[in-house]
Amino acid sequence: MPDTVTIIDNRTGKQMECPVLTGVMGPPVIDIKHLYKELGMFTYDPGYGATASCKSAITYLDGEQGVLMHRGYPIEQLAEQSTFLEVCYLLIHGELPNKREMDEWEAGIKTHTMTHEHLSRFYTGYRYDAHPMSIMGGVVNAIASYYHNTTDIQDRDQRLITAKRVIGKMPNIASKCYRYAVGLPFVYPDNSKSYVENFMNMTFSRPCEKYTPSPVAVRALDLLFILHADHEQNASTSTVRLAGSAETNPFACIAAGIATLWGKAHGGANEAVIRMLEEIGHPRNIQKYVNRAKDKDDSFRLMGFGHRVYKNYDPRATIIRKACHELLVEMNLNQPMFEIAMELERIALEDEYFISRKLYPNVDFYSGLIYQALNIPAEMFTVMFALARSAGWLAQWMELMEDDEFRIGRPRQLYTGKQIRNYVPLNKRP
Ligand code: ACO
Repeated sequence: MPDTVTIIDNRTGKQMECPVLTGVMGPPVIDIKHLYKELGMFTYDPGYGATASCKSAITYLDGEQGVLMHRGYPIEQLAEQSTFLEVCYLLIHGELPNKREMDEWEAGIKTHTMTHEHLSRFYTGYRYDAHPMSIMGGVVNAIASYYHNTTDIQDRDQRLITAKRVIGKMPNIASKCYRYAVGLPFVYPDNSKSYVENFMNMTFSRPCEKYTPSPVAVRALDLLFILHADHEQNASTSTVRLAGSAETNPFACIAAGIATLWGKAHGGANEAVIRMLEEIGHPRNIQKYVNRAKDKDDSFRLMGFGHRVYKNYDPRATIIRKACHELLVEMNLNQPMFEIAMELERIALEDEYFISRKLYPNVDFYSGLIYQALNIPAEMFTVMFALARSAGWLAQWMELMEDDEFRIGRPRQLYTGKQIRNYVPLNKRP
């Protein structure tokens, strides 16, 4: 007898057996696909806190234990020993590459670092002070137009080329978002450089000076990219999957993910953390902000705290916290903001409000501090997040396209509006 859960409608006595699916790890999942057909009911789960929207073999996370793994490899090991491009390969192919596969993968990504020259003109249509996330979303969507009729999304090889195109072009696109805002000329990619060095060169070099990024900064950025590469079915990834389920252009799917990531409840939190720390200004002001975060009449929340899934330390935050300490020592930087952050973390973690709600610092609490130590402007933080997360979005999109149960995503609702009523002409309305 297979595992089932019986759902009984106490109003009618009708009942149905729902299969219980077990994954490799994680809680079992009740299959309610036929609920509406059998019992004429939907399920209600605002925010999808208890809903598995798909089967996935890419990323596993256990929020109670603070565990995160990609394709079975713990994030701690990937952070310590891998590189961002290798993690991209792992997410997309499911296995770590051998030397030949890795060389081919890197070479493949490098053939896609350029963007069509006409695309550069898109940037100049934006206001000089446009948020780079707005530019990035627009430009990535615009790339769809260059490949729309030539990409068959039903063809696995073409999906793979799309993945290489996006990963290859993202540093180029991100760098231009920055350079347009600060009035610097665009820089072409230089494929003799590593992925991160190339990104840094395109972003921060000046035509009049020789530019060599610090190896410490290159490693720190590579680490941040690894830690942001994928994170299961979060809001932006679910957006990418939902857009992909309509069989839309993959660049448009990624643009949809960028739009969702921008929000401050999601990826935009890294920028919001720095703005908040700037506003706090001094450790003596921290308690005031903690009190505001606890006040139900105040909409203020401690940015970089809390997570839908992690009810324990975000394992990425633990890694970044350590990297942040090391970076500041290695670069001999005195960051007053880091002091405020550490003190805020201490006070919040000892506070009953945060303890009882299991609100811990998340990845965004520290990532902004590293970006800031590297002199990257706050508006670019979420852009860098999007650059890295594109790998996960692509892996998830490719998995969706290969899913036997592929259907357009179409949630239902609990209608709370008016009953049917008759239209009243304008001249007869009171
Ligand atoms: N500051 C103060 N209180 C908080 C915070 C916070 N940062 N986060 C949650 N709470 C409180 C809520 O008010 C709620 O309290 P209540 O039970 O008394 O009503 C309780 O903790 C549970 O919070 P929910 O909003 O139900 O948690 P949810 O899972 O819906 O939200 C989220 C998670 C959006 C991340 C939330 O914690 C938040 O807004 N954090 C700040 C923004 C942030 O850092 N986002 C980045 C997330 S990581 C990422 O996307 C990469």
